[in-house]
Amino acid sequence: MSSVSIPRDALPKVIGHRGARGLAPENTLASIRTAKGIGCSWVEVDVMLTKDKVPVIHHDNTLDRCTNGRGNLWEFTVEEVEALDAGTHFNASFAGERIPRLTALLECCHNLSLGLNLEVKHLTVSAEHEPTPEEAAMEEELANVVCDTIEQCNVTPDELVFSSFSRVCIAVLRRRLPHFRCAFLVEHIPTDWAEFVDEHGCISLNFNHAMASREQIVECEKKMPLFSYTVNDSARAVELLSWGVSGVFTDFPHEIESAIFTASQQDRDAEEQDVGRETFIARERRLSDIVPPVVG
Ligand code: G3P
Ligand code: MG
Repeated sequence: MSSVSIPRDALPKVIGHRGARGLAPENTLASIRTAKGIGCSWVEVDVMLTKDKVPVIHHDNTLDRCTNGRGNLWEFTVEEVEALDAGTHFNASFAGERIPRLTALLECCHNLSLGLNLEVKHLTVSAEHEPTPEEAAMEEELANVVCDTIEQCNVTPDELVFSSFSRVCIAVLRRRLPHFRCAFLVEHIPTDWAEFVDEHGCISLNFNHAMASREQIVECEKKMPLFSYTVNDSARAVELLSWGVSGVFTDFPHEIESAIFTASQQDRDAEEQDVGRETFIARERRLSDIVPPVVG
């Protein structure tokens, strides 16, 4: 399958992870609005299905960590999920925040002119596990429902990029919506990554920065744009970009953005100083040709 052709810089260097997860409850509309408020142009969120097959924005398989509910999200109807508090776990000031439906999330991003990286969740215990037949069937169903929703909501390909750890989901997304971009998400970079992205026409390889060496990054970057998650350390973000990574997912987009800006200013200053020094040396050389040095 041929890849959707996009320029390398079509996505920004900094993408808000689960909205702005460091500043607001992850994957809620409050998190999306916060990301916009601090200057993000793109955010990433995760999508899963409820028991009655409604796509909602949530990261973990279970409700335990981020809500006052307990158990697997897919064992609850959308009404039950929407009744939960998804804000208090972060801070009492966010009490009453809900797990949003995908439709509400799409509308929110569209109204705020925010680009959206929609991660279609894998259903396996870990991202690197092969899905069981049952998990693969659930992933296929999720990807199909997501595609239906994207079509119904008239989302345009410039405002959304899919990503997934699930090879099953990626196959469905690329077959159903080939005009939408899709990234391949990995923990460790697998040996067959290049064949997989070629076969499915993925636009980038999005990897866990803690699981890759500098050599791997430099090598992979020659073949395809790379994005790293989850980078919350400013120096590390600057380092990854200097190795050729195109962008990073972060819980603290404002801090990382500002560190990248400062580093680029310092680079520019150093370049200007270099140019200044070269000009000075060249002038000294010319002068020494004309005026012989005074000896003695
Ligand atoms: O898409 C980047 C990142 O969100 C992938 O990992 O587990 O935070 O969804 P995770
Ligand atoms: Mg994610």
